[in-house]
Amino acid sequence: MHYSKLKDFPQNFLWGASTSAYQVEGAIDEDGKSLSIIDMYEHPSDVANFSVASDHYHRYKEDIALFAEMGLKAYRFSIAWTRILPNGTGKVNEKGIEFYNNVIDECLKYNIEPVVTMYHFDLPYCLEEKGGWLNRDTIEAFVEYAKVLFIHYGSKVKYWLTINEQNTMILHPGAIGLPKGGKLPSKKDLYQQNHHMMLAQAKVMKLFHNMVPEGKIGPALNLTAMYPATCNPNDAIAAHNWEVLRCWNFVDVCAFGKYHPLAWSYLKDRNIAPEIQDGDFETLKGANPDFIAMNYYSTATIAASKGDASDVAARAGDQQIMLGEQGVYRPSENPYVEKTQYGWVVDPVGFRYTLRKVYERYQLPILITENGIGANDTLGPDGCIHDQYRIDFIQKHLHQMRLAITDGVKMLGYCPWAAIDVVSTHQGYKKRYGFIYVDRDEFNLKELKRYKKDSFYWYKQVIEENGKNI
Ligand code: BG6
Repeated sequence: MHYSKLKDFPQNFLWGASTSAYQVEGAIDEDGKSLSIIDMYEHPSDVANFSVASDHYHRYKEDIALFAEMGLKAYRFSIAWTRILPNGTGKVNEKGIEFYNNVIDECLKYNIEPVVTMYHFDLPYCLEEKGGWLNRDTIEAFVEYAKVLFIHYGSKVKYWLTINEQNTMILHPGAIGLPKGGKLPSKKDLYQQNHHMMLAQAKVMKLFHNMVPEGKIGPALNLTAMYPATCNPNDAIAAHNWEVLRCWNFVDVCAFGKYHPLAWSYLKDRNIAPEIQDGDFETLKGANPDFIAMNYYSTATIAASKGDASDVAARAGDQQIMLGEQGVYRPSENPYVEKTQYGWVVDPVGFRYTLRKVYERYQLPILITENGIGANDTLGPDGCIHDQYRIDFIQKHLHQMRLAITDGVKMLGYCPWAAIDVVSTHQGYKKRYGFIYVDRDEFNLKELKRYKKDSFYWYKQVIEENGKNI
C-alpha cells in the first residue's frame, strides 16, 4: 500500500530501550540474591559469563542518567526473581526490594517510564531443583512473586510484562543454556511446562487487574511472520504451520484463553499435549492482556517438510538453535533479505508485515520490547564508536513501523535491544546491541567505562523530533 501522507508517531509514544537483569546487572550473589538457572546452566566457556555483565547493579545511577541524556521516555528492564524471593517463595529480601525501588525512582526522577518484565529466563535455581515449570507448584510461586512486586511497585510502575519470550524457552530451550549434564527436556515436558506458564500468566494478569487497576500488563513474545519459500501451496501450508506453532499459539492462549486449534491438533497427534486438570481451561480464560509486547528481530522463510530428518538443521552461524521439524516445516533461504554478521536475517519490511498480522489477530496496542542488531562494535582511539549499521537498522525498522501506524496498527512504543551493551544470551560480550558502549572484553573487565556510540546521538535526535524525519 502506498500512501500520499504518512501518519505521525503518536504523542506520548514510548521511545525507549531495553535490558534484562541477568544480562546487565552482574552481582549475581550479592545482597541476598540466590542463583538462577541462568547462573547455574552450562554456557559456552569461550565467552563471557553473567557474573559481572555490565555491572549495572552498581552503576545504575550513571546508566539511567545516560538514558535520560539520550532522551529515553521509557526503560524496559527485568526484575530478578532471585533478588526478591531468594528461596523462590517465602521470605522477601528487603535488599532486593530496595534495589528495584531505587532503579524505578531513578527512572521517575527523569520522567522515564519504567517498563518491568517480571521474568526474563532467570527462574530461581532452587525452584528448578524442585522440577521448575514442570512442577505445578511453580505456578503458585510465580503468583506469590507477582503479588510481592505489585504490592511494592504497583503504584509507581504502569507497564508490566509477565514472561519474556515464553516461545523461545519452549521451542529453543538450548538458546537459554544447557542444564548441568547437558540434557534438554523432551517436547512433551516442554509443552507441559508451557501449559503451567500459561496458567501462571493468566492468574497473574487477573491478580494484576485487581491490585493495579490503572496499570497495563501484557505478554512479551518473540513474534515474526513467515514467508513460504515459493508459491507452491505446500510451502504456504508449512509456513502457516510454523507461524502458528511458533507465534500465534502462544499469544492466543493469553489473549483468547484457548489453544490455537491447529496447535492443539498437532500436540494431540504427536502425543505431546499437556495434561489438563479440572479448572485449567477456566483459569486460562479472562486474562485480558492490555497490550501485546513484541520482540522482533527477523522473519523466516519456510518450505514444505520432506518428512525426513533432513528437515532439521542448525540456524546459520548458531549451533544452539535448531530449526525445522520433520513433518511440520523446513527452513529455507530468502534471497531478498540481508543478514547480520551473526547470520540473523534483517527484514524491516517483514517488521511491518508482522505488526499488521499481530494487530489484525488481537486488536490490541503493541509495544515493541526488543529489536536490534548484534555486532562486534569497536571503540576507536578517539573514544568514538561508529555504529552506522545500527543506525541504518533502526532507522529502517522505524520507517516500517511508521508505515504500519499509517496502515492502522496501534503502537504504544518502541524499546529496542539494548539501552546499553549487555552479555548476549549465548554469544558473549563481543556481540553488542547497546546505544552505550561498555568497555570490557569477554574476560578482561577493564574499567567497564561507558561511551556513547554514534547511534546514541542519532536516537536522541529521533526522540527529540518524535520521529518526524523517519
Ligand atoms: C531475545 C532475548 O531473544 O534476544 C534477549 O529476549 C536476547 O535476552 C536477545 O539477548 C538477543 O539474542 P542474543 O542471543 O543475540 O543475545
